[in-house]
Amino acid sequence: MDEKEVVINVEHLTKDYGYGRGVFDVSIKVHKGECYGYLGPNGAGKSTTIRHIMGFAKPQKGKITVFGQETFGNTEKILSKVGYLPGEPSLPAGLDGMGFLRMMQDMRGERNDERLNYLLKLFALDPHVNVKEMSLGEKRKLAVVAAFMNDPDVLILDEPTSGLDPVMQAVFISFIIEEKKRGKTILLSSHIFSEVDATCDTISIIKDGIHVSTFKAADLKKRDEVTFVFQFGDKESLAKLPKQLKEGKIIETNEKRLTAAVSFDHHKYKNVLDSLKGLSVVGMEEKPFTLQDYFMSFYKEEKTFDGLGGVKGNTK
Ligand SMILES: Nc1ncnc2c1ncn2[C@@H]1O[C@H](COP(=O)(O)OP(=O)(O)O)[C@@H](O)[C@H]1O
Ligand SMILES: [Mg+2]
Repeated sequence: MDEKEVVINVEHLTKDYGYGRGVFDVSIKVHKGECYGYLGPNGAGKSTTIRHIMGFAKPQKGKITVFGQETFGNTEKILSKVGYLPGEPSLPAGLDGMGFLRMMQDMRGERNDERLNYLLKLFALDPHVNVKEMSLGEKRKLAVVAAFMNDPDVLILDEPTSGLDPVMQAVFISFIIEEKKRGKTILLSSHIFSEVDATCDTISIIKDGIHVSTFKAADLKKRDEVTFVFQFGDKESLAKLPKQLKEGKIIETNEKRLTAAVSFDHHKYKNVLDSLKGLSVVGMEEKPFTLQDYFMSFYKEEKTFDGLGGVKGNTK
């Protein structure tokens, strides 16, 4: 992977909006042919980063290139090579869906109606509805079709499934997997673990504008931890477990429930059971370690446990 061409290169981007808002020293390298997930909650700085990648804003610090070319002021050039789905698509009033798609085709000087019809059918979108009358989901679908209709090699997608219903989210995920097989390079921002998990090869987590971890999705799947969810009979037992648990990392505590990631090794497994001695445990469930667990671990500081190069604890 590393010897492959870097298509999108964000180096030490800072955009400080004040009051701790913005993005701070963020770096991203998207290689040719990979799907790169940019994962973070609302307000993390995903759209800010992507707007800078598209060249709409000038980095306060840092450098951004797409295909080796600095992006600020070069949005038009970038748009000629890249399919872009904005986080909040703004659609011109007075047009129906088809009018908008034709306008976008004309701007690019390219028409591929076979592809366009394929996408309209795939996403079950009626393009003969005025954009003003479209629901949020329909607008999002229209923006998805617009981003993909010229079959660009590179896609930059800012929260592409927000507003889509679960069936359409699933259609979108299968579509992304197919596009990846066709060799597309994709940068996808999201706050939805399952879609990032299902589609991305490399994942970066951003929190409060700060990059906290970048890792290969395959490495996360290879991890030899399991997650235990303990259900306690009383709150005292829950309070005591973190002190008694010698191995692992607390991911989440919730009422009388505690979720911890524990190395899947018999000796350590035995330690987990030993650590429950004297506590009132009414239920225990074992689950595979997921991207969501890894993400949630950045919101807890109790014990350090990583292995994927993440920065733990408070990032501010
Ligand atoms: N133009 C702006 N002026 C001031 N603050 C902004 C502006 N754009 C975004 N922000 C702030 O920067 C942070 C990151 O926003 P954004 O990049 O939109 O996050 P995300 O896309 O991850 O939800 C938020 O706290 C947001 O309020
Ligand atoms: Mg956003």
